[in-house]
Amino acid sequence: MSDSSDIYRLDDRKVVVTGGARGIGYAIARRAAASGATVALLDLEQVALDEAAARLRHDVQGAEILAQTCDVSSYDDIRAAREVLEAGWGRADVLVNNAGIFSNAPAQEMEAREWDRVLQVNLSGAFYCSQVFGASMIEARSGTIVNIASMSGVIVNRPQPQIGYNVSKAGVIMLTKSLAAEWAPYGIRVNAVAPGYIRSAITESLLGKANLRDYWIGGTPLGRMGSPEEVANVVVFLASDAASFVTGETLVADGGYTVW
Ligand SMILES: NC(=O)c1ccc[n+]([C@@H]2O[C@H](COP(=O)([O-])OP(=O)(O)OC[C@H]3O[C@@H](n4cnc5c(N)ncnc54)[C@H](O)[C@@H]3O)[C@@H](O)[C@H]2O)c1
Repeated sequence: MSDSSDIYRLDDRKVVVTGGARGIGYAIARRAAASGATVALLDLEQVALDEAAARLRHDVQGAEILAQTCDVSSYDDIRAAREVLEAGWGRADVLVNNAGIFSNAPAQEMEAREWDRVLQVNLSGAFYCSQVFGASMIEARSGTIVNIASMSGVIVNRPQPQIGYNVSKAGVIMLTKSLAAEWAPYGIRVNAVAPGYIRSAITESLLGKANLRDYWIGGTPLGRMGSPEEVANVVVFLASDAASFVTGETLVADGGYTVW
């Protein structure tokens, strides 16, 4: 095994990032591209994807970026996206299941439709994408998957009620362990990152509301929210050869929130 810092890089790897058009997904794509990877962004809307791809090519000069519409809650969409990518690009070496939606509703009021949607995107979407892209990894006997879970899969956040989201992310953590165990014989590693409160369009817009700042930042030992780049750094580490003996693990990146 090399002792050079190259083992932290993703040179010539093909990395698929779901929900890659903005926020944490975009930061992961940028960090992967800066580490030498070619990156395929999957997201819901073509316009947002094209803008993100153009921004990425500008941010990381020389980066090879693909952009493909895909709703991760649709098995057909994922299969179609894989076909397009494999025809023009090849097999994914790394899959990052990042696409996710938030949902704040008290348990007694949550509508079945909303519950289903959160589970469908956050949990089933990660499973469908893993199965579809994982099929090619199994064939090749190599690959690695990084799921974006959340500290909400480990603890119940306060004060906002978010039972569907919490359950979906707990599911992502068990999905990670189960896939890691089943696919280790094929040379595939599967890990997760569980971020704490990260600055994004949504969390920034909510910060002003009823004491959220006190709960979120006051409850974080490091005394601040994290940045999307701080999540991306952990994702690229887990995807790289530097983590070659790590599988089934969920790395919590929360500024210490869950230690209190
Ligand atoms: N921001 C945080 O504080 C935080 C904390 C812990 C975990 N997370 C997780 O990190 C991930 C990214 O969060 P973010 O803050 O960047 O969110 P975001 O809303 O800024 O970005 C999410 C992206 O996913 C895309 N997306 C949503 N549904 C999709 C679908 N069905 N198919 C394909 N793409 C879809 C959106 O279009 C968007 O581009 C999510 O899984 C989220 O649960 C975020």
